[in-house]
Amino acid sequence: MSQILGKKALITGGASGIGKLMGRLLLQKGLDTLVIWDLNEALMLSTEEELKAEGFKVRSYKVNVMDTQSVISTARLVNEEIGMIDILINNAGIIVGKYFLDHTHEDIDRTMGINSSALMHITSEFLPAMVASKTGHIVNIASAAGLVSNPKMSVYVASKFSVVGWSDSLLLEMKIAQTNVQVTTVTPFYISTGMFDGVKSSIVPIVKPEVAVRKIIKGLENNRRYVRMPGIVNWVPLFKGILPAFLFDIIVGQWLGMYRSMDDFKGR
Ligand SMILES: NC(=O)c1ccc[n+]([C@@H]2O[C@H](COP(=O)([O-])OP(=O)(O)OC[C@H]3O[C@@H](n4cnc5c(N)ncnc54)[C@H](O)[C@@H]3O)[C@@H](O)[C@H]2O)c1
Repeated sequence: MSQILGKKALITGGASGIGKLMGRLLLQKGLDTLVIWDLNEALMLSTEEELKAEGFKVRSYKVNVMDTQSVISTARLVNEEIGMIDILINNAGIIVGKYFLDHTHEDIDRTMGINSSALMHITSEFLPAMVASKTGHIVNIASAAGLVSNPKMSVYVASKFSVVGWSDSLLLEMKIAQTNVQVTTVTPFYISTGMFDGVKSSIVPIVKPEVAVRKIIKGLENNRRYVRMPGIVNWVPLFKGILPAFLFDIIVGQWLGMYRSMDDFKGR
C-alpha cells in the first residue's frame, strides 16, 4: 500500500528550503492534502499559491513552533479543518552560527525550542490519532550535526543530538507497543538551501536540496529507520565508536576539514 497516495501530510518550515521541496514531491506522488506550518507568513502564502496553481490541495497556518500554546491550538484547528494527519514531517529549524561564548540566552532558548522541544510538542499533538488508527509516519529532520560535534554550532549540535535520541526512542516505543506508526530520523550533511551559506567542505560533498529531498521521501516510502546523507555519514557512528578521540579529530576535523567548515559561515 502506498505510504503517500491519498494521505494528508503536515510539514513544519514548509515554506522554503527542503520543507517546500518535500511538500511538492509528496503532492507529485499523489498526496491528498499538504498542510504547511511556517513562521514566515509571506513566504508561506506564496508557496501555498504556487502549489495551488499547480493543481494541488494545500493549506497553510502561521505558527511559531517554539510557542507551545500556538502549536496546541493550531494542531486542534488542523484536526478539525483537515482531519487526521497521516505524515508529520518535523522540519523547521534554525542555526546560530557562532562560538558558544557569543551565544545569548535567547539564542540558546530559540535554538533548543525550535530545533528540539518543538518536535516533541508537535508530535504529541498528532501522535495519539496515529496510534489509535494504527497508521502514520513521523519524519524528524535532525542533521549529521546530531551525530558529530562541530565548532561554531554547539547549541545547534546539542539540539540535533537531542532530536536523534528522542526520535529513535520514540521509534522503539512505537515498535514495542505494536502501533504500526513509523518513525524516520534524518541526518543530512550540509545541504545548499541557503541556511548554511558560506560553509565550505572540500572532500565531503555538500548535498543538493533536490537530492536530499528524494532520499528523504524514499526513506519515508520504505519505512526506513534512518536516512543519512551523503553515504559517508553512515560510517560516522562506527568511526566515533572505534577510533580514539584524538584520531577521530585528526581524520574528521583536520583531514576532512570539518572543524573549520563553519569558519566563513554567513547563513541566511
Ligand atoms: N541546510 C542544511 O545544510 C541542513 C543540513 C542538515 C539538516 N538541516 C535541517 O533541515 C531542516 C530544514 O532546513 P533548510 O535548509 O530547508 O532551512 P530553511 O531555512 O531553508 O527552511 C527552514 C524553514 O523553517 C521555518 N522556520 C524557522 N523558524 C521557525 C519557527 N519558529 N516556526 C515555524 N517555522 C519556522 C523558516 O521560515 C523556513 O521556511 C532544518 O531542521 C535544518 O536544521 C539542514
